Amino acid sequence: MPRVSYVNGKYLPHADAMVNVEDRGYQLADGVYEVIGIFNGHLIDKAAHFQRLQRSLKELCIELPVNIAALSFIIDETIRKNFLGHGKVYLQITRGVAPRDHAFPEKSKSTLVVTVSHMPWPSRSDAKQGYSVVTGPDLRWQRCDIKSISLLPNVLAKQIAVEAGADETWMVNSEGHITEGTASNAWIVTTNNELVTRQTDDHILAGITRRTILRLVEEQGVTIKERAFTVMEAQNAKEAFFTSSTALIKPVTLIDDIKIGSGSPGVMTCTLIDMYFNFMENLPKKNERSSYESKSNNL
Ligand code: PDD
Repeated sequence: MPRVSYVNGKYLPHADAMVNVEDRGYQLADGVYEVIGIFNGHLIDKAAHFQRLQRSLKELCIELPVNIAALSFIIDETIRKNFLGHGKVYLQITRGVAPRDHAFPEKSKSTLVVTVSHMPWPSRSDAKQGYSVVTGPDLRWQRCDIKSISLLPNVLAKQIAVEAGADETWMVNSEGHITEGTASNAWIVTTNNELVTRQTDDHILAGITRRTILRLVEEQGVTIKERAFTVMEAQNAKEAFFTSSTALIKPVTLIDDIKIGSGSPGVMTCTLIDMYFNFMENLPKKNERSSYESKSNNL
């Protein structure tokens, strides 16, 4: 079955899905993106991803070339044309095609690309394996809250993990604080059972998985602290994990070769994995809105 992707109004065989060489995304990384998980054909946290996309676009003065309802339809169509059950959507919007010049072009139409790919989700028990993290310098700009396609520092940081045989790199800023992973948010559980993740500001991406987990634990009476933490605090933590739309919740059992807690995925992390699986398995059916979505926005 041929893979189908969407580019600027057309559903094309993936091999023919191309953008112009003068696209500003290609030449200047002048664009934004989103990655959304698909579980049983449904987008995980669609409304929150669309909200973040609209925010990123607004911050960079890039126009969404279609309205949100049309974007939602295009994604659903791309999923349908690819017969996708489990997987992920990648969508990218750039400032469009124009002769190369740093300044915004006077006239350009944003480029919209939507691709989907198959990705089996782990079973609950497979999700409870331990992963290793290494640390590396955070070389990024001052607006990491924008989900920009300019990812070179993240690419270089991830390569540190690859070369060390680790699963993710946690980036450390000049103050010695862990900001986040190359494509994930970082969390620890302290010896007092406090759940800690860095506060959202211009130095990290406000992860949608992060936001959902905070919402899920809020009702459980867990103490949540949104604050910065150092590498040493993480290494001395009881538990650690990282989260993203594609990684879900990954227990961390090693940070720079130091064992975390007992060296096995922790109790709170495994409980959160179960809670997150329950959440995914109870996603609203297509065209239904979860009570959370209805409460939080108009999408
Ligand atoms: N990345 N921080 C960074 C730097 C990220 O790139 C991501 C996600 C996250 C987690 O965000 P969310 O929970 O919304 O996926 C945090 C995606 C998955 C990627 O680039 O592939």
